[in-house]
Amino acid sequence: MRIGILGTGNMADALGTQWVRAGHRVLFAGRSPDRARALADRTGGVAGTFEEAVSFGAAVLLALPYAAALDTLTALGAEEGALRDRVLIDCTNAVGPGFVLTTGDGPGAARTLADTTGARVVKAFNHLPDPVWRLTPPAFADGPVAVPLCGDDEEALETVAALVRDLGCVPMVVGGLDRAAYLEATTAFLIGLWHCGHDPRTLLPPFEAATA
Ligand SMILES: NC(=O)c1ccc[n+]([C@@H]2O[C@H](COP(=O)([O-])OP(=O)(O)OC[C@H]3O[C@@H](n4cnc5c(N)ncnc54)[C@H](OP(=O)(O)O)[C@@H]3O)[C@@H](O)[C@H]2O)c1
Repeated sequence: MRIGILGTGNMADALGTQWVRAGHRVLFAGRSPDRARALADRTGGVAGTFEEAVSFGAAVLLALPYAAALDTLTALGAEEGALRDRVLIDCTNAVGPGFVLTTGDGPGAARTLADTTGARVVKAFNHLPDPVWRLTPPAFADGPVAVPLCGDDEEALETVAALVRDLGCVPMVVGGLDRAAYLEATTAFLIGLWHCGHDPRTLLPPFEAATA
């Protein structure tokens, strides 16, 4: 598969490296062409512009801060349809000081991205920090990491599910884009717990106990 990545930071590096390793052709794009080229050289991908990343292949990973994403996509012609029907993987966490969602009580990030761009947005990979995505495979004692996916388009969900499996993880479709805001809020909550030194795993009973 050909995958365009918007961003050259931690998430672009973590996921892009895995997908190159899995045999995909990955184009990295950032506001610094030098950083994009360095990342491409190191991982075995190619470097390009944001415009090229959007039109490169079957999927586009949005690996920018949410605060920068809408402006960047608008500058690319999102409102004129430049991303219409593209499979856009949204891994952003719009989390501000105090671990509060900067999207407030309004539509969440994924919903807003879909409404703004007309892209087939799938929320994915936002719920864990990049060091986990760098593991080969991302797995712990309980087994491979499950990756919750939210999206409204079956084909887009299957495309992203395949990319999840390529990491050695297990895709878990948890609903449409109307559920993505819950995943975003859950992640903000998790980030807050981790930063305060609490282990969220201790909050949860075994599955059988919760569903008895
Ligand atoms: N890192 C994690 O553990 C993690 C986990 C899950 C989700 N996420 C989410 O994934 C996204 C990327 O996170 P990251 O950790 O990869 O961030 P990062 O390492 O800080 O990289 C951010 C990327 O966005 C670019 N960027 C920043 N501001 C920009 C602007 N105004 N216009 C255009 N490009 C801009 C940066 O370019 P420069 O290099 O030129 O600054 C860089 O390429 C975020 O939405 C984050 O919430 C992160």
